[in-house]
Amino acid sequence: MDTVIIRDINDESMACAGKIIRDGGIVAFPTETVYGLGASAYNDDAVKKIYKAKGRPSDNPLIVHLADVSEISKAAREVPESAQKLFDKFAPGPFTVILKKQPGISDTVTAGLDTVGVRIPQDLTARAFIKAAGVPIAAPSANISGKPSPTCAEHVLNDMTGRADAIICGGRAKVGVESTIIDCTGEVPVILRPGGITLEDVIAVCGSGRLDKHVLSSVAADEQPKCPGMKYKHYAPDADVTVVEGGIKSTEKEILRLVKEHKDMGEKVGVLTMSSIDFGADLQLSSGKDNRDFARCLFGALREFDERKIDTAFVQFCIGDSYGLAVKNRLYKSAGNKIIYTEKNI
Ligand code: TXA
Ligand code: MG
Repeated sequence: MDTVIIRDINDESMACAGKIIRDGGIVAFPTETVYGLGASAYNDDAVKKIYKAKGRPSDNPLIVHLADVSEISKAAREVPESAQKLFDKFAPGPFTVILKKQPGISDTVTAGLDTVGVRIPQDLTARAFIKAAGVPIAAPSANISGKPSPTCAEHVLNDMTGRADAIICGGRAKVGVESTIIDCTGEVPVILRPGGITLEDVIAVCGSGRLDKHVLSSVAADEQPKCPGMKYKHYAPDADVTVVEGGIKSTEKEILRLVKEHKDMGEKVGVLTMSSIDFGADLQLSSGKDNRDFARCLFGALREFDERKIDTAFVQFCIGDSYGLAVKNRLYKSAGNKIIYTEKNI
């Protein structure tokens, strides 16, 4: 398939991308969280193309993207008070609300569920594109399934050239991890996936809220998680990743030891760290000064480990603020829950 690459964002190029969607095609586009791969949420055949392009299991539903809060009724048949409060306070923004689905939304989008994830992205290009399409856009992250989500145009060009009808090249994603998913179909809002909007934010606005148990623990074989995507191994780089978690000094000491041990075994070793000391690895990447920086660079770093053919990677994780949960959730998954705690009581 020939892929149209759109680098200039203007009315004309957005109209072109919108027409591709209305004609049943699939288009990758930037958002503030990660890049998405979109199709009309009304068009079953178009949505199936997304699953095929990503190699995504068909029981993992897609999020529906809208240009504006006034369009929510296109996707959802009711908006409970908690959801309305979240939209009033944070939309457009990096979060998705699970609501009862409108019948017009294709069952392929929701993988047969009676609920739908609704998201209004903040990114101006994303909104211009959705507006130009004139239909709700069903979109997962624009990576090949099992790879880290794409946070810049280059990642998408690598994964989706020849698989998508068009790729809209925007800038680097400002948040860098996928949207917070908040289930508002029950009494209390439940965070199914942590992201840029935190549990504290949800509680402050709704008066209550909790984390789903699968946010940090893995899913047992006989369990059906609320968020179907939780049961798949995500964000898996080719490198064998281990998280080293604890205080700065103790994690530095442990990573220094591990790098030496693995280099001595002849492995190519990578490190992702907030420290400025040299660990003597083959590739050392910086995770920045806080968890917001960390979130922005995490997926890019995991991809870089692959490009540089790193065998074993150690990721330092120290900062336990509420934003850190979004980082920690992705880190634990990419490491297949391989974590070394350097201190007790973490
Ligand atoms: O930030 C984001 O959310 C990005 C951008 C493109 O908007 N999208 C994204 O989509 O991360 P995806 O498909 O990679 O992740 C969507 C997650 C999956 O884990 C899926 O199982 C879950 O949302 N999901 C979708 N619809 C759901 C529903 N009705 N109930 C529960 N979970 C749902
Ligand atoms: Mg994804």
